[in-house]
Amino acid sequence: MTVLTENFRLANGNLIPKLALGTWQSSVAEAYEASKIALANGYRHIDTAAAYHNEDAVGKAVRESGLPREEVYITTKVPAELKTYQEAVKSIDNSLKELDLGYIDLILIHAPRPWSLMRDSGDNDFKKENLEVWRALEEAYTDGKVKAIGVSNFSIDDLQNIFDHGTMKPMANQFIYHIGRTDDELVAFCQDNDVLVEGYSPIGTGRLLGNTELQAIADKYDKSIPQLAIRYLLEKNILPLPKSVHEKYIIDNAKVDFEITPEDMATLDKF
Ligand SMILES: NC(=O)c1ccc[n+]([C@@H]2O[C@H](COP(=O)([O-])OP(=O)(O)OC[C@H]3O[C@@H](n4cnc5c(N)ncnc54)[C@H](OP(=O)(O)O)[C@@H]3O)[C@@H](O)[C@H]2O)c1
Repeated sequence: MTVLTENFRLANGNLIPKLALGTWQSSVAEAYEASKIALANGYRHIDTAAAYHNEDAVGKAVRESGLPREEVYITTKVPAELKTYQEAVKSIDNSLKELDLGYIDLILIHAPRPWSLMRDSGDNDFKKENLEVWRALEEAYTDGKVKAIGVSNFSIDDLQNIFDHGTMKPMANQFIYHIGRTDDELVAFCQDNDVLVEGYSPIGTGRLLGNTELQAIADKYDKSIPQLAIRYLLEKNILPLPKSVHEKYIIDNAKVDFEITPEDMATLDKF
């Protein structure tokens, strides 16, 4: 077993591959090439979003891979700006069309508020609106268009709103999590409620590269900083979504079958 063949299990019983290729900021051509490379090298999970404008490229790479559909796991997202039931239904149908893979494995609400209001949403916390979008996701699940539903960038409060008023609970919450940026209260809340945590920007969108202290720890394991940073999430049962458009990096990022000692984890926790 390697991380490429291991899975987490969602609350509905579905398996989800433990490591995903990220595609934020990848152009259509880059997302196509990176997805092809990843699939050829054993990745079975790709993370995209309507807002990344590369779902069609990801879908094409999956179709051309020759892999049975059920062996590949695709996550996409309803844009943060779409906050009505009708807009969400339309967005899900459009993602299905763009991906052209028959169904979506996991769809997330990209963020609880439109990006321009993520820091300051004034009087509107978008609780009512998120329940409308959530209803569209629940229906897509019931209709078999998507195999799992979840959220992204949701706080405890945002999650509690869905727990209290939704029919189903989110099965995953995808939020930023990397060495030096760890919201462990949110992780514990999610894991206690059987919501899988997916950690985005595991390499800090590149910011962890070149850190000499991290390099010294990575050297002890004969690993790179990205490999150490990805393993750090796995040690916490968080699903990492490293992004790269380079073959060497994509392959290296999956070589994370090692264990970080509790002492080094404690050091990394204090970064
Ligand atoms: N839900 C959300 O709101 C949200 C927000 C942000 C991200 N995400 C998801 O999480 C994914 C990852 O996050 P991220 O894109 O912010 O960044 P990241 O994965 O933390 O870092 C990506 C950067 O690190 C570089 N890199 C990757 N592997 C490397 C290696 N082995 N050696 C050297 N450099 C390496 C990449 O370079 P190259 O690309 O040039 O190879 C890129 O510049 C996204 O792509 C997206 O799928 C979701």
